[in-house]
Amino acid sequence: MIVAILNCDEKWGIGKKNDLLFHLPLDMKFFRETTSGHTVAMGENTLLSFPGGKPLKNRTNIVLSADVTHNYEGVINVHTFDDFLAEIQKYSRKDRVYIIGGASIYRQMIPYCREVKLTKVHKDGGAEVFIPNLDEMDNFVVISESEPIMDGDIEIRFVTYGNKKPKRIRLKKNNEELSTTGDKR
Ligand SMILES: NC(=O)c1ccc[n+]([C@@H]2O[C@H](COP(=O)([O-])OP(=O)(O)OC[C@H]3O[C@@H](n4cnc5c(N)ncnc54)[C@H](OP(=O)(O)O)[C@@H]3O)[C@@H](O)[C@H]2O)c1
Repeated sequence: MIVAILNCDEKWGIGKKNDLLFHLPLDMKFFRETTSGHTVAMGENTLLSFPGGKPLKNRTNIVLSADVTHNYEGVINVHTFDDFLAEIQKYSRKDRVYIIGGASIYRQMIPYCREVKLTKVHKDGGAEVFIPNLDEMDNFVVISESEPIMDGDIEIRFVTYGNKKPKRIRLKKNNEELSTTGDKR
């Protein structure tokens, strides 16, 4: 199963200056506990936004960059969107794959996600990068929503959206072969 996980402000903003908008310890804990032991897939900027540009521990990290010279230690490096999809498909057959950003990856991958775990922050964070408004997308419906919770001095809500019609990953022949070989290893 492919699931996106993220937080956004009241304008659907998710980041600025290649960093998060807010410091949210409760939401961080939720993210860590939800994704630990699973696979996470991200764009290069998101990897570089982590402390020391290091991958997330206790998780298989898939990282997309179009630059073939950008290869990071401790991650599965992919350089085309098709290869990114192939790795996500391969891992999603046996595990949950969490799409963890950033904005460009959410835009491309949200249609493939069965669920979006969205922490809504009741504040304007002055964002520079945004995700699409899920409330305006026909496919997406709210399947659960928490009461408002204080995370430090910021009010948040944990919301899960379900995608009524997730897009299927369709790979070119080479990727299919790559993915099948991977599964048999
Ligand atoms: N609020 C949240 O929950 C949350 C979560 C994650 C990230 N963020 C924020 O999001 C921001 C980063 O988002 P972003 O959009 O700038 O970066 P990003 O999506 O993390 O990474 C973008 C990079 O990924 C590669 N890429 C993306 N699509 C590609 C494609 N189709 N083919 C090949 N390569 C592709 C490119 O790398 P190359 O340029 O090397 O080719 C591109 O520059 C930061 O502010 C971060 O803090 C927020």
